Amino acid sequence: MQVDSQVVVRPARNVRGVVHLPGDKSICHRYAMLASIAEGPSRLENYSTGADCASTLGCMRTLGVMWERRSDGNVIEVQGRGLSLTAPASPLDCGNSGSTMRMLSGIVAAQRFTSEMIGDESLSRRPMERVIKPLSAMGAQISSHEGKPPLRITGAALKAIDYRMPVASAQVKSCLLFAGLLAEGETRIEEPLRTRDHGEVALRAFGARLEHKGNEIRICGGQRLHGIDARIPGDLSSAAFFLCAAALFPGSQLVIPNLLMNPTRARLLDVLMQMGLRISVTQLEEIHGELVGSLQVEGAKLKGATIAGAGSAALIDEIPVLAAIAPYTEQGIEVRDARELRVKESDRIAAVATNLRLMGAQVEERDDGLKIPGGQTLRGAELDSFGDHRIAMAFAVAALRAQGDTLIRGAETAAISYPAFFPTLEEITER
Ligand code: S3P
Repeated sequence: MQVDSQVVVRPARNVRGVVHLPGDKSICHRYAMLASIAEGPSRLENYSTGADCASTLGCMRTLGVMWERRSDGNVIEVQGRGLSLTAPASPLDCGNSGSTMRMLSGIVAAQRFTSEMIGDESLSRRPMERVIKPLSAMGAQISSHEGKPPLRITGAALKAIDYRMPVASAQVKSCLLFAGLLAEGETRIEEPLRTRDHGEVALRAFGARLEHKGNEIRICGGQRLHGIDARIPGDLSSAAFFLCAAALFPGSQLVIPNLLMNPTRARLLDVLMQMGLRISVTQLEEIHGELVGSLQVEGAKLKGATIAGAGSAALIDEIPVLAAIAPYTEQGIEVRDARELRVKESDRIAAVATNLRLMGAQVEERDDGLKIPGGQTLRGAELDSFGDHRIAMAFAVAALRAQGDTLIRGAETAAISYPAFFPTLEEITER
């Protein structure tokens, strides 16, 4: 990764082109972890090129898993180890990736050794109590720095748990499903809202049985997994930046083939269509339980939106870019019930408000969201990524309709999820 790079984004006239996206980050983390504890080899095509998913692979290697990245098209071949891993000789470095630390903790909690999980400065500030509490109740011994990383996890023969999650988090849900798979008895998890279901879908793809009714999921421990051969669909949360860029220009035209369309992730498409973006989907298919399609997108006038309740949880990773384009909409965007945004890679509510104000926008920052009036004209400015990939990319999109150039400091952080973001954005913008 480059150190402290800055990028200048010039205003654009239109957006047009075809974008092929690297594999979905949420799915890649889960596939890499499950392929490692499956029996037999797995082949994961279109694996994410982002640093976060590389962190997961790095941790799996430290746990004795053999894998190789084939140079022709991002293919990862993993030699599954079965359910037991090797004691790590060094800490498991999760880098910037909360997904890696939270989900992998569910697997190492069931191993007969001690693991230390560390992360970068941003990850070291993020809450881990949400996994420490239930995993401890299942029998693992976990110490942390006041509920934050580093975590020291001494695994045990876990006992199943009946757990009502206090926070809606798909990472925690997957963590507990993975721990439940390795525990004795039947684990029952209830989530306050239905969050993304990639953990459930992936477990089934690797051969596990689980039951799902409403917001409740049950999994029996002791099931064995088998390796899979998979093509990973394009990342919908990365597509969000291009979709929002297209939304800014009436007459824009984008094609995004092989895109993840999982209904627990696709709320962004509904919101953008309600706001006026024209989207049609062709070549719908299901691959290992995940819905995939090809998108044709056309920009039109952009109305406003309100994002609240379950919608905020469903759109959690896409809210920064929606908020960044809000001033250009007709009625503006209001975001409520999104307090979780304050404990992501950065405080995303504060980061969005700060950058929008630097561009001259009027913004009301609230404890759990933002209210951003529409019909505003923004000017180019000097902005910061706050070390957060989604903030860097969101403001590159906002810059396309600003008056004058925008400089984004710390733009290299885009590589956390999408190293090719800036060159790809450049390819599809017309000036
Ligand atoms: C993710 C869940 C969300 C999301 C993150 C990826 C996942 O986090 O923000 O980028 O893959 O399960 P939470 O589980 O903290 O809501």
